[in-house]
Amino acid sequence: MEFLSSAWILLCTVLLVSALLFRKSGRGLKLPPSPTRLPILGNLHLISNLPHRSLCKLAQKYGPIMTIYLGSFPTIVISSSHMAEQFLRNYDHIFASRPVMGGDNDLLSPQKLTFSPYGPYWKFMRKFIIQELLSPNRMRSFASLRAQEVFAMICSIQSKAGTNPDSVVDVTKEVGSLTNNIICRMSFGKKLNEAQLDGRTFREVLYELLALSSSGFAYSDYIPLLGRLSLQGNRHRQAELAKILDVFMESIVDEHFERRKKGIDLECGDFVDSLISLSEDESMEIKITRDHIKNVTFDILAAATDTSAGVLDWAISELLRNPIAMKKTKEELDSVVELDRMVEESDLPNLHYLQSVVKETLRLYPPAPLLLPHESIEHATIEGYQLPKKTQLLVNVWAIARDPTHWEEASKFKPERFLGSQIDVKGHHFEVLPFGSGRRGCVGINLGFSIIHLGLAQLLHCFNWSLPQGITPQNLDMSEIFHINSRRAVPLLAIPTPRLPLQLYELNN
Ligand code: HEM
Repeated sequence: MEFLSSAWILLCTVLLVSALLFRKSGRGLKLPPSPTRLPILGNLHLISNLPHRSLCKLAQKYGPIMTIYLGSFPTIVISSSHMAEQFLRNYDHIFASRPVMGGDNDLLSPQKLTFSPYGPYWKFMRKFIIQELLSPNRMRSFASLRAQEVFAMICSIQSKAGTNPDSVVDVTKEVGSLTNNIICRMSFGKKLNEAQLDGRTFREVLYELLALSSSGFAYSDYIPLLGRLSLQGNRHRQAELAKILDVFMESIVDEHFERRKKGIDLECGDFVDSLISLSEDESMEIKITRDHIKNVTFDILAAATDTSAGVLDWAISELLRNPIAMKKTKEELDSVVELDRMVEESDLPNLHYLQSVVKETLRLYPPAPLLLPHESIEHATIEGYQLPKKTQLLVNVWAIARDPTHWEEASKFKPERFLGSQIDVKGHHFEVLPFGSGRRGCVGINLGFSIIHLGLAQLLHCFNWSLPQGITPQNLDMSEIFHINSRRAVPLLAIPTPRLPLQLYELNN
C-alpha cells in the first residue's frame, strides 16, 4: 500500500514536471505546424512502431515541414526533397550535430562517431576512420578479402543446396554473416565464430540490444521518470547485453595489445592497431582512451553489418517477387560474365541493370528511414520558421523516396527507372537519400556498394533462386521492423539451385 502511494506521488510529479516543460518548449517562436498534442505525451501517441510510415501520413496532413512533440520535446520532421536540400545542404553547417542520447558505455555513446555531437572529436574521428579504413587505397587493399568472403558465402550455400534439391537456405543469415565477416576482418583481422558472444552471434546480440534500446520514439526516452520506472524496455537486460559486448570488445583490444607486446609488424596492422597507436600518441590534443577504441570499433561493426546486409536481403526479396527483373539481371550477368566463371569486382561497372536493382532497393528500403537524428548548433530561421539552438531534426528519407510528385508508381519496384538516369543515391540528389547527405552523410558508401554489388551479383550468378513450397511472389512476407534502423521482420528463406559447373564452387576455394 505504502509502495503504491509513493508510486502515485512519483507519477504525479512526473506529470507536473512534464506539463511545465511542455508549456515552456518553443514558447514565443514560430515553429512549423504540428498535430494537436496531448499533455505529457505530446504526439507520441500518433507514432506507431514503424515511425517513418506514421510520420509520412502526418506529413500528408501537416506538410513537408512539421513539428512533432516527442513528449515535451519539439522535433522538426521534414518529408520533401526541397526541405531536405534546405536542411542538409543550405543549413547543413547548423544541423550537423547529434543529440546526446547515451552514456559513455551505452549503445548510443557520444564516443561513437555515429552519435558524437559536432565538434573536434567528431571531425577528427571521421577523418581518421576514412583514412585508416575507407580511403580508396584501403578499399583496394581489401578487395581480395571481400572476394574471399563472398566466395565463402557461396560455398556455404552450395553445401546446403547440394544436400537436397529442396534445401531451404536462410538468406538473411547468410548475407548477415557475409557483411559481418568482411567488416570484422577489415577492423580487427579475423572473423567471429558463430557463437562467440556468450553463445550467440554478434548480430543476435546487436539486434536484441537495438530492440531494447531507444528507438527514438519510446515514451521512456522523453519522460525520463517513466523511463526509470521501466514502463518500456528492460534496462536490466540492456545492461547484461552491453556487458556481453564489452567483454567481447575487451578481448579484441587485449589480443591486439598482446600482439604488440610480441612485436608484430605494425605495417600489417589493422584498424584496431591504428586506434591503439593513436591512444599511445602523447602529442594528440584529443586523448583516445581504451573506451574510445572499443566504442569506435563497435560503431563501425554495427554501422556496416546491418545496413549492407539489409539491402542484400530486400534486393533478393524484391527480385523473387518480380520474375521479369530477376530474368533481366541474370541475362545481363550471363552476357557480361558468362557461365564458365564467377563474378569479379572488375565486372561490376558493366552490370548496369544490377546497379539499378541496388539503387531501386535503396530507394524503397533505406536502412535508416529517418536517417539518424540531427541537432542544430545555433538558432536558424528556415522557410520562415524560427528554430532554436538544439532543435532535433528527423529527415524522412523513406517518405521522400516514395513521393509521387517525383516518382512515378512510387511504391513499385522498377529498377528501369534508374537506367540511363543521372540520379545517384549517394547524397547529391535530394529525391533519394539512403545515405543522408552533407557533413553527417554516411562515410561507408563505397564499402557498402562494393559489398552489396559483388554479393548480389555472385548470389544471382551462382544460383537460381526459388521460393519454398506454399510461398508465392504475391504472398512473400515483406513486413519490416524498426529499431533505429529498419530491416526485414522475418528471415528470407529461399531455395538455391547451382547454375555454374560444379567444379567452379571448389576450384577457387
Ligand atoms: C548500404 C549500406 C549503408 C547505408 C544505407 C548507410 C546509411 C547511413 C545513414 C543514413 C547514415 C546517417 C546519415 C545522417 O544521419 O545524415 C549513416 C552514417 C554512418 N555510416 Fe553508413 N550506411 C551504410 C553502410 C555503411 C558502412 C559499410 C559503414 C562502414 C564503415 C558505415 C559507417 C557509417 C558511419 C560511421 C556513420 C556516421 C557518420 C557521422 O555521423 O558522421 N555505413 N550511414
